[in-house]
Amino acid sequence: MIDMKPPLTHKVPQHIAIIMDGNGRWAQSRGEPRVHGHRSGAQRVREVVEAAGQQGVKVLTLYAFSEENWQRPIEEVHALFSLLVSYLREEIERLHENGVQLCSIGAIEKLPEDCQQWLRVVEERTRSNQGLKLVLALSYSSRTDILRAVRGIAAAVKEGTLDEQSIGEATINSYLSTNLLPEPDLLIRTSGEQRLSNFLLWEMAYTEFYFTKVHWPDFSRADLEAALSDYAERERRFGSIHPQ
Ligand code: FPP
Repeated sequence: MIDMKPPLTHKVPQHIAIIMDGNGRWAQSRGEPRVHGHRSGAQRVREVVEAAGQQGVKVLTLYAFSEENWQRPIEEVHALFSLLVSYLREEIERLHENGVQLCSIGAIEKLPEDCQQWLRVVEERTRSNQGLKLVLALSYSSRTDILRAVRGIAAAVKEGTLDEQSIGEATINSYLSTNLLPEPDLLIRTSGEQRLSNFLLWEMAYTEFYFTKVHWPDFSRADLEAALSDYAERERRFGSIHPQ
């Protein structure tokens, strides 16, 4: 039988945002400590970054550590940042060779010094790459980002550099840490939870959501492709009656 479906490339999301959830449960279901789940999760990051680039995705934003995650036990927080440093150190050349450009959003100044340093090194090394833009959301809170934008706008109005009447959506966009990124087309959240958890709240007004029960440490290239196929079937109307 001939498959009449259009090739996936017709509707590849430009920007995918992922909430990589379920590391802890994945580990605990195997009788392992939570950090084992994070370690396996970090391996999946390598695979998914490569697969997203190969599928033609332009931007991939990964929610790697939320502002709220600081409340976790200190050993887990340390383990997460140590995994991040290992990832950056081990992947820097591969990211560069694959044309990936790495950047970060969130309160980076709160991260351990070695983590900040490695982020700077990889960002600098990959700065002029034209392939996939990999955005790591670290110590990130969307409400904090919006608050910071509101304060910035208020200060500009007070200084007289911004006219209150000219404030529009574009003004708010320009004050957010995501100002250089397109809005996410597709949000993927793993492990069966169905919430946003303070991630890109303003930016996801018209994002398509894809929830899967698969825990992040099991989320493979094939799972990403399943999400992309699902997205390709969707009709996006952005509030109008016509597909756009
Ligand atoms: C959520 O699972 C996952 C995190 C809070 C951290 C995500 C981090 C990684 C995948 C590894 C390091 C990142 C990079 C970019 C190399 P959870 O611990 O909340 O799982 P649970 O809900 O089952 O407890």
